[in-house]
Amino acid sequence: MKRGSDLPDYREQAPEVAARFAKIALRPKILEVRALGKMFGSHETLRDITFDVRRREFVCVLGASGCGKSTLIRIIAGLETATSGQILLDGKPVRGPGPDRGMVFQNYTLFPWLTVRANVMFGLRMKGKSAFEAETEARQWISMVGLLKYEHAYPHELSGGMKQRVAIARALANRPRILLMDEPFGALDAQTRAQMQAYLLKIWRNVDVTILFITHDLDEAVYLSDKILVLGPNPGRVLELIENPVPRPRSREQFVSPVFLSAYNRISELIHPPGSIPVEKVPIIRMTMAGDDVE
Ligand SMILES: Nc1ncnc2c1ncn2[C@@H]1O[C@H](COP(=O)(O)OP(=O)(O)OP(=O)(O)O)[C@@H](O)[C@H]1O
Ligand SMILES: [Mg+2]
Repeated sequence: MKRGSDLPDYREQAPEVAARFAKIALRPKILEVRALGKMFGSHETLRDITFDVRRREFVCVLGASGCGKSTLIRIIAGLETATSGQILLDGKPVRGPGPDRGMVFQNYTLFPWLTVRANVMFGLRMKGKSAFEAETEARQWISMVGLLKYEHAYPHELSGGMKQRVAIARALANRPRILLMDEPFGALDAQTRAQMQAYLLKIWRNVDVTILFITHDLDEAVYLSDKILVLGPNPGRVLELIENPVPRPRSREQFVSPVFLSAYNRISELIHPPGSIPVEKVPIIRMTMAGDDVE
């Protein structure tokens, strides 16, 4: 997609969008990432990553494959340690995993030997809730993701989208301060993915939760987010933090609106700078007979 001269500047915000960001700026910080660096041996994976996420904000982290998105979210989750810098959750340093951060990954992580209901109850029971309390709460969350009919089903009986809905219910049931999502819809077909995105926005509107969402899909980032943290590769670093100018509530029709396209084009420029995909350097091995060409 070319940048059209008739498109608005992606930094120009309609008054209602500017008012929304002014309100967000007044909310407390839930997550603070300060000058975070990560080395794997001598390989510098992340450098000087700094950003904040405020209460009930929806922040997408976008970057090309291999730029360190999963490493970043794993460090925030406490599953990996940083080499330098600091992470604060509600002002307190993160020193390991904890129930204050819920995680949803791309590959399905439900316990295959437990039913939907038992999967969602699991964390609640671990927290010391009685079986009755855990069951009542679990059923509320399962109902919220529209799967009460399937509460006795096992994960292998569910579609990919349904499994991710259970994973979201399970993560939310623990009442995390922040939901960390690493390409949660990456393995779904395009249509299910679109449904899940709309679904997630609905849940986010109705539940007091802050979301950090990793993706390499530009459309997904612009559709979902308040802000988009664009990472560049080698080492993974912040290229820009974009305040998403597309008004809420969001709809698919906006995908062709000038404001959507201007944000999309800007991110596309950052992630794929001209000349960054040297197609002519990809070796082509001929595997058909000469004269057997297709047009
Ligand atoms: N445990 C590890 N040990 C060594 N190197 C690692 C480890 N985990 C990640 N890396 C390296 O860190 C870099 C970033 O990986 P990471 O998985 O964070 O990227 P990503 O942005 O999530 O990519 P993708 O979009 O493909 O998921 C890669 O070069 C990877 O090889
Ligand atoms: Mg990843």
